[in-house]
Amino acid sequence: MTYNSFDNPGLVKVLTFLQSHNTEYLSGQDLSDVLRISRVAVWKHIKKIQELGYIVESKQKLGYKLISNSELLLPWEITSNLKTKIIGQQAFYFDSIDSTQNQALKMTEEPNINGAVIVAAKQTGGRGRDGRKWMSPKGGIWISIILKPEFDISITTLFPIASSLALSIAIEKTFSIKPELKWPNDLTIKGKKVAGMLVDVSLESNRIENLVLGVGINFDVNVKQIEKSLKGTANFYGIASLSDQNQKVKPIQLVQTFLVELEKIYKNLNSKKIKEIINEWTIRSSTIGKNVELNTINGKIKGKAIKIDEDGSLILSENNKNYKVIAGDIIHMSK
Ligand code: BTN
Repeated sequence: MTYNSFDNPGLVKVLTFLQSHNTEYLSGQDLSDVLRISRVAVWKHIKKIQELGYIVESKQKLGYKLISNSELLLPWEITSNLKTKIIGQQAFYFDSIDSTQNQALKMTEEPNINGAVIVAAKQTGGRGRDGRKWMSPKGGIWISIILKPEFDISITTLFPIASSLALSIAIEKTFSIKPELKWPNDLTIKGKKVAGMLVDVSLESNRIENLVLGVGINFDVNVKQIEKSLKGTANFYGIASLSDQNQKVKPIQLVQTFLVELEKIYKNLNSKKIKEIINEWTIRSSTIGKNVELNTINGKIKGKAIKIDEDGSLILSENNKNYKVIAGDIIHMSK
């Protein structure tokens, strides 16, 4: 099934009314009168709302009462009261898809698509960095965001790093824990991967035409199962699931908080305010100050991670010489 945030006004009307009156029973007649839709339409919408995972109690003579919201990242839940101007103001939801990233890339040419968010409950062909596969079972947050940035091409490599900072801040705010940031754009908990970022860019005469940010978050996944199928693959260093930290946080809280934080950082990048992003990333980084081994396309490099540059590349020091690395997988060795 596929849903978007603007095609189901009747359903959203009924749902919003149930959500704002969730301490009382509402009769089908009252709903029909207040919302100016037929009783049959009310009944059909309630049936659909229940199918989508909302628990709506229905009592004879009393009517309907919303008991709990759906756990699905439905598009109207993402856009509802979202405190952003661009990012997430349109949302698309898929029960199952090959990759939200591929879907987002197909949609980049549609009108008014800037800031749109594509979410899937599960992906059958999830893509990770460097052509790796990304395990995306139900329970995770798999999301892609279409952007038409104003920033310069040189910022493209900093963007996923800045986005990982936005997610880290969002996790701090919702879960009250501090994930570590592992260069370039992994989020870890106690050294195990909890989230990753992927960016696809299309360029037109030296400017960014479209940028699609893909974010994979192990929100409530079976760690053992994913570890079993990834063991022995490149850049595998263990998996962590956010649900092991706190069972109470809902996926929608994290997604909305992330979109707000991402928009703040996106605005800063568009207005070239880069220093603060680099400082905040460095404070949370588990890479800076460590001796690391880097696997790059040109082979292995070892050295001490000194800092990241304005374009997001890592500066390594080895035998009093500094090296700049744009991309690669790192292994943390020691302090
Ligand atoms: C990484 O390798 O660390 C990046 C993983 C990015 C995964 C996300 S999940 C949503 C989006 N769709 C994809 O196919 N990949 C990204």
